[in-house]
Amino acid sequence: MKTLIIFGTVEGQTGKIARYAAEVLERLGHEVELIDADDPAEISFAGVDAAILAASVHQRRHPRKFEALLTAHAADLAKVKTLLLSVSLNAAFPEGHEEAREYVTDMEMRTHFTPTDDMLVGGALRTAHYDYFALQVIQHVVMRGRPFDPSETEHEFTDWDALTRKLESFFV
Ligand SMILES: Cc1cc2nc3c(=O)[nH]c(=O)nc-3n(C[C@H](O)[C@H](O)[C@H](O)COP(=O)(O)O)c2cc1C
Repeated sequence: MKTLIIFGTVEGQTGKIARYAAEVLERLGHEVELIDADDPAEISFAGVDAAILAASVHQRRHPRKFEALLTAHAADLAKVKTLLLSVSLNAAFPEGHEEAREYVTDMEMRTHFTPTDDMLVGGALRTAHYDYFALQVIQHVVMRGRPFDPSETEHEFTDWDALTRKLESFFV
């Protein structure tokens, strides 16, 4: 089975998730092509059976370039099995799931593309990489009311076992 993994990342966690998904799929016997939405070059769907679409959320939306790719390739994507991995911090907290679900619904409305299946995936805090603005958004909007230690330079919320289970069940 040939599977494309198209990913949009800002601070790198979704890139890590995309590479991890590639390893899992290769173990399952897939031929995998990783495509960075920031530098997509030419995307060919020849011989492709499935696609994983992975993107992180910043200020309630997935990267514009990633969304533009979904819109541009909606017809090709509709012909194959697609799994959207929407990576956000709200996805990491049960009370954040409703909002994390809205990010997906809003994107589907903008791109006119609906994946076969999706998963809300917890992302990561990368405090050392944030500028002043990003730190303010994280501290006072995204992590407001949640345990947050700005001196902790990195905290990963991604549940790798749950992601593995989802990939394995999606590709049975
Ligand atoms: C400036 C900024 C804005 C963010 N906005 C949101 C948001 O609106 N909702 C949310 O759940 N997470 C938000 N996040 C958290 C990211 O989705 C999370 O850190 C994710 O792991 C980033 O993935 P990436 O490293 O692949 O870009 C934001 C993070 C930053 C730095």
